[in-house]
Amino acid sequence: MEFRHLGRSGLMVSEISYGNWITHGSQVEEDAAHACVRAALDEGITTFDTADVYAGTKAEEVLGRALKGVRRESLEIFTKVYWPTGPGHNDRGLSRKHIMESINGSLRRLGTDYVDLYQAHRFDVETPLEETLRAFDDLVRQGKVLYVGVSEWSADQISQALKIAESMGFDRIVSNQPQYSMLWRVIEAEVVPLSEREGLGQIVWSPIAQGVLTGKYLPGQPPPAGSRATDTTGSRFIDNLMADEVLRRVQELKPVAADHGLTMAQLAVAWVLQNPNVSSAIVGATRPEQVRDNVKAAGVKLDVDTMRKIDEILAPVVERDPAKTVSPASRP
Ligand SMILES: NC(=O)c1ccc[n+]([C@@H]2O[C@H](COP(=O)([O-])OP(=O)(O)OC[C@H]3O[C@@H](n4cnc5c(N)ncnc54)[C@H](OP(=O)(O)O)[C@@H]3O)[C@@H](O)[C@H]2O)c1
Repeated sequence: MEFRHLGRSGLMVSEISYGNWITHGSQVEEDAAHACVRAALDEGITTFDTADVYAGTKAEEVLGRALKGVRRESLEIFTKVYWPTGPGHNDRGLSRKHIMESINGSLRRLGTDYVDLYQAHRFDVETPLEETLRAFDDLVRQGKVLYVGVSEWSADQISQALKIAESMGFDRIVSNQPQYSMLWRVIEAEVVPLSEREGLGQIVWSPIAQGVLTGKYLPGQPPPAGSRATDTTGSRFIDNLMADEVLRRVQELKPVAADHGLTMAQLAVAWVLQNPNVSSAIVGATRPEQVRDNVKAAGVKLDVDTMRKIDEILAPVVERDPAKTVSPASRP
């Protein structure tokens, strides 16, 4: 495994991290979840990403149990707050009340006294930004949270937050967690340039486009049994990546991967890691073999010709519009 700084902060993270959205507490059984975490640890992954909302809070519990007994100082544990965790109007968003209540639930479920990174899972249009940032800053001072970050915030929202933190002396955001893959490049135009200037690192999600970039989904064919596209929850999220034209072009990447002695999943993960503003690529997995496959992307260098070839193959199906970085117009 290789390690990178989280943005300009002193914190180091494994360049490939493991996340448990869709899987833990939902798509996969507890034994398989533990086996994936064990494989991640064996392969040198030290950074684990979850959220209060995953599997209706069950994912944090599964991860907490799977990491039990591992030396806490050897891990970086990330979680998030924003999406609903209960039926009440205050069980969501980024108000001081929900942030303070949610972190306590996350720490209890994860079985830890602190998280290394606490992320605002979206921008909350119904809470003054200053209230959110002050609450985050208080958590840092209480020692419950070591660093703060955001997820899927636009360049403008990140910029506003940095200005408020600067003028109020609050702890500064060190990271953003956006969707980023060969197929989804919406951060490149605005978020990445701002982050490079301001010292934020990207911790990118769905680098394999939820499995689509493995090439296992074939155009015009039913999805393979047991894959995310067949899962009740998972299929809701992967569907917009499953157009036949996308799947057809993804098949054309197979010789590119083979030429480099890489699997398709490794090529996809290695591709996001070529961007120096990416601190870590969070991979998901339903089986330990997938983790062992994906981690081999660490440290892989892709030359300019290979990057150009990938661009040529995928050009018509790549999403680049920065306006696609959106948070809900009102609290969910
Ligand atoms: N901040 C946010 O809003 C946000 C949103 C989404 C995700 N995330 C984070 O990002 C993490 C990763 O997201 P993701 O799970 O969508 O990432 P991903 O790595 O793009 O996709 C993971 C899925 O692809 C399939 N897969 C992975 N490796 C494979 C391999 N080598 N061969 C064949 N299939 C393979 C598996 O699904 P099947 O076996 O079921 O096909 C696996 O669960 C999440 O766990 C979460 O921590 C954050």
